Amino acid sequence: MKENTINFKIERLDPLAQGVSKIDDKITFIPKTLPGEEGRALLTGKKKGVHFARPLELTKTSEDRIEAICPHFNQCSGCDYLHTNYETELENKKQSFERLLNYSPFKDFNIKCHGAPNRLEYRNRIQLHYDLKSKQLGFFKGRTNQILEVPSCLAAIGPIQEKLHSLYENQSWTSLLPPKSPPKGHLEIFDSIEGIQITWNMPYASGGFSQVNKTMNELALKLWKDFYLESNSPKKIFDVFGGSGNLSRNFDDSRVTIFDNYCDESKLLSHQVFQKRDLFKEPNPPEEKIDLLLFDPPRSGFKESLDWIESCNPNFIGYQSCFADTMIRDFKNLPNHYEALAIHLLDFFPSTRHFESIIFLKNTRA
Ligand SMILES: C[S@@+](CC[C@H](N)C(=O)[O-])C[C@H]1O[C@@H](n2cnc3c(N)ncnc32)[C@H](O)[C@@H]1O
Repeated sequence: MKENTINFKIERLDPLAQGVSKIDDKITFIPKTLPGEEGRALLTGKKKGVHFARPLELTKTSEDRIEAICPHFNQCSGCDYLHTNYETELENKKQSFERLLNYSPFKDFNIKCHGAPNRLEYRNRIQLHYDLKSKQLGFFKGRTNQILEVPSCLAAIGPIQEKLHSLYENQSWTSLLPPKSPPKGHLEIFDSIEGIQITWNMPYASGGFSQVNKTMNELALKLWKDFYLESNSPKKIFDVFGGSGNLSRNFDDSRVTIFDNYCDESKLLSHQVFQKRDLFKEPNPPEEKIDLLLFDPPRSGFKESLDWIESCNPNFIGYQSCFADTMIRDFKNLPNHYEALAIHLLDFFPSTRHFESIIFLKNTRA
């Protein structure tokens, strides 16, 4: 056996969908493997005493293994679970979320898990990178700046897949690149009311943030509407990191103020009021009693959530997150007069390690 290869035996999957192998006290994380699998892997890195490796050969395979449907799966870091069935994927996401909740005020709370109807063909927006010198277009390989060409990305909705295909035909993307574009950059392909569009080297998602999975977003909107109705149709609402007002768009008969730094007022989806603000530079909460406080920050979370709760003393709170770790961090010291009404896991990003989660809370002192 060569020096930089190891034998592995996978015990479990971690929250990043990597197989965890422990042989002779040597812990190794190996993506695209499954519990019970054995084989040989190439060591690719070491950090704080644990190793990282890439599978080379499987000598024992799991019954849950399936042939990945995507031709790029083994090299691409976009999807993590296409080598197994959807039940295994969803169960691992659920267990990861439950483990996190055990370190929060919501220990042992029964979560409601909503799987996605489509495992692929759901993304209505994808971002690619290009390099004019090497004439390459594709996704970055892991956290490197190396480009992996992906002429077919099955996670994208059909019309985006077709557009992507056409960009690779005779390298037509090179002729579509606007004049004076930098030699290296990125492009976004997205669905809009005008059809499939491409933007080049824009700092933000065109038109502001929008949820990438339309079907799962509709399910989330239903949960938010039910919560709104259950919380006695609150009148004064803050939608913090509200974007164009997606989550509160169906709250009738209420005054909703959106806080966000990007979306402009003309893009609001409903009758909301817009307060443009960089919430990371100016996180101070307004001093105003609020009926319902809603958070939906980016992956980094919002460390000042509890300050807002203290200042606004809401009767009801909802927090939606695409990264449960930071949501749990933000609510770690939640005052105990807030109790959880429901906790949801919504699989907005099937085939990947990511998922969306929502916690609905009630003020028992109100
Ligand atoms: C996860 S999105 C949620 C948006 C909205 N709730 C939705 O469902 O479409 C996070 C939002 O945070 C906003 N955001 C990111 N950084 C921000 C900042 N520094 N200050 C204020 N808003 C920010 C983005 O513009 C985006 O609309």
